[in-house]
Amino acid sequence: MPEREVPVLLVEDEASLREVTAQRLAAEGYRVVAVDNGEAAVERLAECAFDVVLTDLRLPGIDGTAVLDAALERYPDIVCIVVTGFGTVTDAVAAIKRGAADFITKPFQFGQLLHVVRSALEQRRLRSENAYLRSQIQERYRFEGLVGRSPRMRELFDLLETVAASPSTVLITGETGTGKELAARAIHHNSPRRGHRFVALNCSAVPETLLESELFGHVRGAYTGAVATRQGRLESAHEGTLFLDEVGTMSAPLQAKLLRVLQEREFERVGDDRPIRIDVRIIAATNADLAKLVREGGFREDLFYRLNVIPIFLPPLRERREDIPLLVRHFVEGLSRQQGRSREVAVTQAAMRRMMAYGWPGNIRQLENAMERALTLSRNRARIDVGDLPQELQQAPLSEPAALPAIPEEGFDMAAWVAGIERELIRRALDDSGGNRQQAARRLGLKRTTLVEKLRRLGETDGRRAASRPES
Ligand SMILES: Nc1ncnc2c1ncn2[C@@H]1O[C@H](COP(=O)(O)OP(=O)(O)OP(=O)(O)O)[C@@H](O)[C@H]1O
Ligand SMILES: [Mg+2]
Repeated sequence: MPEREVPVLLVEDEASLREVTAQRLAAEGYRVVAVDNGEAAVERLAECAFDVVLTDLRLPGIDGTAVLDAALERYPDIVCIVVTGFGTVTDAVAAIKRGAADFITKPFQFGQLLHVVRSALEQRRLRSENAYLRSQIQERYRFEGLVGRSPRMRELFDLLETVAASPSTVLITGETGTGKELAARAIHHNSPRRGHRFVALNCSAVPETLLESELFGHVRGAYTGAVATRQGRLESAHEGTLFLDEVGTMSAPLQAKLLRVLQEREFERVGDDRPIRIDVRIIAATNADLAKLVREGGFREDLFYRLNVIPIFLPPLRERREDIPLLVRHFVEGLSRQQGRSREVAVTQAAMRRMMAYGWPGNIRQLENAMERALTLSRNRARIDVGDLPQELQQAPLSEPAALPAIPEEGFDMAAWVAGIERELIRRALDDSGGNRQQAARRLGLKRTTLVEKLRRLGETDGRRAASRPES
């Protein structure tokens, strides 16, 4: 429970209310200091730090507003809740303007008070978590527009940086929405070609018949409708970078022409036979399995090798779930800025748990869309909750139930089966913690020595993973 041992300063001059409230808060696990006047409250604030101040506004001597000011001056992050009499809403509003987190009107049920305190504390926790995530996004875990803190993304950022400096052709693969185009742009913007154009062409979005002229350009009269000579994307990208998206959908004749560009840095416009020399870096992308296409005869092997000089794979989001909180914050902030929202929007823990548990078949694009929708639905509320998430997330089970085997009549080897599950869980934990055994053990609720022993017993032969990564 978050409220365990949270220190609360209670300021109330009405003895019976003070005593009952103090007792019940203590029963809920709060550490309560109760005083009956403003002067005493200010003294206590000087003596020790409180997380919560619960003060009546009307007090003999210095009033609740002065207590509020004193508390906030000393601890800007303190949660102040003011208690007001019936019919004094304007006082409450004034207190909120001064920085109180919330107010409650007398007479109240203890349950209401508890609710106000809990949600104010939760709000504060989310605020500080957001500040932490924001600092991580700003300081460390990004490369151009790409955000990520998982070991795999950090490795990717290093790779992108190295690749950017080289002139080689790059082939980016990954499921839909994993950030292939963003990665291609990041390479261009960090390369010596950054002063020239980044030109993108989605090979599957242009009808086959037009793709050739789109890519290579044409001269006037090359075909019906070619009323003027036109430069293709390849020429537009001269000295810059050409991004060929969905390259796996290219027809065989075009594949041959592209191969020639890669080999000889030369091409002709459609309807012309004068060769044009070109200096362009090509980055291709596909979410198809090109190697498989090659085996099946759908893609030229020589072109595949020419493109695949530097392969870059973008892992699906479900394999790097630890990036989700960072991405969520990144999108919520970006989108609220776009929507002109002034108030900071938080995401509840329950909503975050759903997002962490979901499989994200549409990867980061799907997450981005889900956040846009959630922000719209949450209107002017300060937080996004489970109800604002798309249906498929609300229904997602919070943990994947292990697929248990049917036990065959003749029996089966349970020990081997359990060992297999153990091995898989350990492998995932090691992956998620970048090979750090200490962290992996913590995630699994094991002692480090127990994990090491298990690894030994399970005959974890994956020496690369277990041995070569840094230990803590
Ligand atoms: N690591 C990341 N950090 C922040 N935003 C990201 C990241 N990866 C992707 N995005 C965003 O997700 C969306 C999808 O990315 P992108 O278009 O690059 O994916 P893609 O792999 O090219 O998808 P497709 O295969 O469907 O064309 C974009 O809005 C992009 O800005
Ligand atoms: Mg794309």
